Amino acid sequence: MPEHNHIIVAMFASGAGSNAEAIIEYSRRKDSVYKVEVILTNKEQAGIYSVANRLNIPIVHITDPQDASNILEMLQKKQVQVIALAGYMRLLPAEVVRAFDGRIINIHPSLLPDYGGQGMYGNNVHMAVFNDKKPYTGITIHLVDEQYDSGKMLCQSRISIIDCNSVENISEKVRKVEHEVYPLMLNQLCKTIYAQQ
Ligand code: GRF
Repeated sequence: MPEHNHIIVAMFASGAGSNAEAIIEYSRRKDSVYKVEVILTNKEQAGIYSVANRLNIPIVHITDPQDASNILEMLQKKQVQVIALAGYMRLLPAEVVRAFDGRIINIHPSLLPDYGGQGMYGNNVHMAVFNDKKPYTGITIHLVDEQYDSGKMLCQSRISIIDCNSVENISEKVRKVEHEVYPLMLNQLCKTIYAQQ
């Protein structure tokens, strides 16, 4: 284990990067025990690039998301201890999941197991919730194992969407809660890991 007074986090993100932004912003607060040292992405044109540039975090493009040794090598180079996924649409290779067992966290924009599984991401989730005319939705933060959305649950927040009349309204409302809760849960996980060092 590297001897730092914080936990080194890598973010895997391939979307707009709004959760990555919230997590990096939080890391600059006094009560944060983690630091985001690198962002890994598998999309060339993702909004995550502008977040990385604006917040001055190195970003690395993963050309082959199945190439476990390349990913592990990049993580080792930065002495990464915890991985936070936010809008990374690929399954991590099993070797990476095993190497970071209990130290990979993900956020899903629904109350799992509802609206989870392959193909259920981003607006696909919100669209399904909208079409089902649900009065509420939510978020789930969980540890990652070798399948989609099935690792140990760390927390869920329920969100009323009675006032939402479009998929966009739902997505906005959910994102707002994600940005509040995800950094706190990541910080909590890092505190636990820090205490075990
Ligand atoms: C979020 O809704 C998150 O729950 C899901 O992917 C989305 C990523 O959004 N896993 P952003 O790229 O962080 O804005």
